[in-house]
Amino acid sequence: MENMDGPRVTECERCPALVESRSRIVNGTGPEDAALLIVGEAPGEREDAEGEPFVGRSGAQLDEKLRDHGIDREAVRITNCVRCRPPENRDPSKKELENCRGYLEREIELIDPDLIMTVGKVPTEHLLERDVAVTKEAGDVVEHRIGDAPRKILVSVHPAAMLYDRSQEETFDATVEEAAALIGAGGGDQSRLDSF
Ligand code: URA
Repeated sequence: MENMDGPRVTECERCPALVESRSRIVNGTGPEDAALLIVGEAPGEREDAEGEPFVGRSGAQLDEKLRDHGIDREAVRITNCVRCRPPENRDPSKKELENCRGYLEREIELIDPDLIMTVGKVPTEHLLERDVAVTKEAGDVVEHRIGDAPRKILVSVHPAAMLYDRSQEETFDATVEEAAALIGAGGGDQSRLDSF
């Protein structure tokens, strides 16, 4: 795809406000054959500075929960709907999400994960293409076509929600536990995804 080298975007100037606010394009990290792909919203300040998704405070929450449930972060692919930091960490606009959609679809196609976990309202609604009450649907696995293929999407709250609302910690914890069971992480049973 134009502007891409495998799953990495090499250059892009489609969103004038983001070109202005970013220091760099933040591509996904992790193996290109990962079973689990985690999709967040957009890079924040730390992600923009370091060029990697989820390396700031919410990344620390995410890492802790992955570790608790026997998922090695190094074995997971982690990316965002939008690859450039929005000004003042505002939500990406519909237009910005659409501008970046082809890159995400291409990354999903190349990684071909067994399971996609969308963390937070923005990535969940973006990939499911409908309104979603993420706290209600957290833990559900929904089949939805992305590009040419049906994908299994595990709905999750955003790890940063735990920082502001402790009751969300249980929800996030249970969802990561579900992800671990589904992909067969931590030396447990074989993947349960075939039964979906
Ligand atoms: N929040 C996100 O959604 N993505 C990141 O990369 C960091 C924080």
